[in-house]
Amino acid sequence: MILVTGSAGFIGANFVLNWCAQRDETVVSLDKLTYAGNLENLATLKGNPRHLFVQGDIGDAELVAGLLAQYRPRAVVNFAAESHVDRSIHGPEDFIQTNIVGTFHLLEAVRSYWSGLADTEKADFRFLHVSTDEVYGSLAKDEPAFSETHRYEPNSPYSASKAASDHLVRAYHHTYGLPVLTTNCSNNYGPYHFPEKLIPLMIVNALAGRKLPVYGDGQQIRDWLYVVDHCSAIRCVLEKGRPGEVYNVGGWNEKANLDIVHTVCDLLDELRPLPASQSSILDPQSSSYRSLITFVADRPGHDRRYAIDARKIERELGWKPAETFETGIRKTVQWYLDNQDWVNNVLSGNYRQWIEKNYSERA
Ligand code: NAD
Ligand code: TYD
Repeated sequence: MILVTGSAGFIGANFVLNWCAQRDETVVSLDKLTYAGNLENLATLKGNPRHLFVQGDIGDAELVAGLLAQYRPRAVVNFAAESHVDRSIHGPEDFIQTNIVGTFHLLEAVRSYWSGLADTEKADFRFLHVSTDEVYGSLAKDEPAFSETHRYEPNSPYSASKAASDHLVRAYHHTYGLPVLTTNCSNNYGPYHFPEKLIPLMIVNALAGRKLPVYGDGQQIRDWLYVVDHCSAIRCVLEKGRPGEVYNVGGWNEKANLDIVHTVCDLLDELRPLPASQSSILDPQSSSYRSLITFVADRPGHDRRYAIDARKIERELGWKPAETFETGIRKTVQWYLDNQDWVNNVLSGNYRQWIEKNYSERA
């Protein structure tokens, strides 16, 4: 079996759902269920004997040691993290606690478990750490995309805390021989994405006739990957990756934020045209969701461009994304249209407080 942390979040839940659909191997899921963790994401696994959910913190060494001793996984896949850049700007402490201290405690528990394994199990064991392209910092317009050897230049408390966790993972391989793998992936999008991140926020706001807040000039570039492709990349690295190696994962889909918002609006115009009662909110001439776009104050220290060079994982492990941006974004918008109950359940009191905090100062 495998142990997956952060399994009730966006990518972790997609990973566990895909895993259970494709493999016979049992998954033990560990998640603290912070504001970003949602057991509804795993609802379709209810009653599935090959999925066991445990609520808990990766920083709880005793709990993790107990789980490792009880279930004896052949691999640990670590998704657990505080993941939202804007939240890290408003309050970095949780990021330090989970992404750095939590990862450290997790590594310690795993090292102790791994040290006690028999030689063959020890050699076959893997600790896969899921990280981000944001650790590499920001690229100028014509600079080449981030390769695995690009130097670390994190600019936000989020990316700095992820960078620190990557360094710890690396050190546990070099110092103790722990068979680790690290993946640094670009921006994901797809089902179960928490609606405070760009794409789901725009879909949810547009459908409610609310403004679509674009930070700064909207010309910041991100490299978008459909979440199911990220999950297939992680499975591929887990199977074929060389211990100690880093693999960058990306979809070769660099897009400016404003173009992303336009695409979302255009798809919604096609799939769920704006009702006449809402079309006059900003621009009485327009019946497009684009008329809800509003430019707001920029994010402090906003990275201008991310881009992933994904040639290593393709060359060495044979992985390629299955979706283009056009197919992936259409599936995503359709998923949000088909899953309004999921959205409504997420839009709790806590979520509303966050929206008030993040956007009231940007007007
Ligand atoms: P998310 O915020 O949606 O989910 C994180 C999950 O971790 C939540 O379920 C939360 O409850 C859980 N968690 C938080 N602290 C925990 C702790 N101390 N112990 C146990 N569980 C805890 O994040 P996501 O978008 O699914 O990202 C997952 C991982 O992938 C993160 O490590 C992130 O840095 C990385 N990543 C994300 C993206 C992206 O675009 N979302 C891109 C590249 C890498
Ligand atoms: P986000 O989804 O927070 O991911 P990240 O910061 O990890 O890349 O944001 C993606 C981009 O969208 C980023 O450049 C910030 C921008 N953005 C907006 O313009 N408006 C918004 O309301 C949000 C949430 C993000």
